[in-house]
Amino acid sequence: MAYAIEAEGLVKHYGQTKALDGVDLVVPQGRLLGVLGPNGAGKTTAVRILATLLRPDAGRAAVGGYDIASESHQVRSLIGLTGQYAAVDEMLTGAENLVMIGRLLGLSRSASKQRANELLARFNLADAGARATKTYSGGMRRRLDLAASLIGRPQVLFLDEPTTGLDPRSRTELWEVVRGLMADGVTVLLTTQYLEEADQLADDIIVFDHGKVIASGTSDQLKSTTGAQVLEVRPLQEGHLDLVVQVVGDMVETAPETSGGKVTAAVHDPAVVPAIVRRLDELGVIASELTLRKSSLDEVFLALTGHRAEDEIATEKEEAFA
Ligand SMILES: Nc1ncnc2c1ncn2[C@@H]1O[C@H](COP(=O)(O)OP(=O)(O)O)[C@@H](O)[C@H]1O
Ligand SMILES: [Mg+2]
Repeated sequence: MAYAIEAEGLVKHYGQTKALDGVDLVVPQGRLLGVLGPNGAGKTTAVRILATLLRPDAGRAAVGGYDIASESHQVRSLIGLTGQYAAVDEMLTGAENLVMIGRLLGLSRSASKQRANELLARFNLADAGARATKTYSGGMRRRLDLAASLIGRPQVLFLDEPTTGLDPRSRTELWEVVRGLMADGVTVLLTTQYLEEADQLADDIIVFDHGKVIASGTSDQLKSTTGAQVLEVRPLQEGHLDLVVQVVGDMVETAPETSGGKVTAAVHDPAVVPAIVRRLDELGVIASELTLRKSSLDEVFLALTGHRAEDEIATEKEEAFA
């Protein structure tokens, strides 16, 4: 079996909303696929369908070689699922939560306890294991949630925005945990709104927007798909910014942007750079910085979707506080 997860033409409607509009994806055994997309792109819908919690309106998919519709029981026996909102019982301790899940999965009491202790130790929760989970921090809760999804030793793990809302330190800790899983050979499908997360963890990345896959490839491939490099020019005198915008704008196809005293523009033909340098020189503009670099994943996302990933997260936060 070449692919641990394969999906073809997945469609899902919620009333008028087309949450998934014909999604194809594959995840080779033992690899991590990063599904990157803004809020509302359809990531959770795809995960819920692949995890057999939701039926697609059209399309087919298989996990571990089993069909999600006709062999959902087999699929469930080999997957683990961790959601954005940790599903643990607040009143129970970390250890009790894990033991309970072990029992539900049919492990004996002693096997459940042993597995719980193993996972608590692995996720740095050994001391906290005896405390009620309502006392846990957000990062600890996510680690416990992840531990819970691993009790049944899944071959395929779905991590739906596992680090959304976590502080940078907890996020980095969780990344380490995910890397550990990959070293064990687990196949992972991880959704995220964070470009850096996909960049850090994913072997392959697909970008979702409005229920469609709008791009796919490795991080490096995506960075080069826009076919552009990024030119950055910082004039020594800030008063020269407008002039730099004009000169750069004349030579490149896309409108330059200004921020932090720097002009940034996508460049498709690096040969324009010497011409820009000459023109600035003629105008008496001295550049304190002039660099040509690879696009960041952020810029790729902007080029693909027409909006920046952080805008979406900022909007979501505003909504959450509204
Ligand atoms: N249970 C539901 N009922 C109605 N609309 C839904 C439901 N779940 C998701 N949607 C809509 O489907 C789209 C995709 O949602 P979702 O898969 O949750 O996206 P993501 O996980 O990428 O944020 C959104 O427009 C969302 O509002
Ligand atoms: Mg979601």
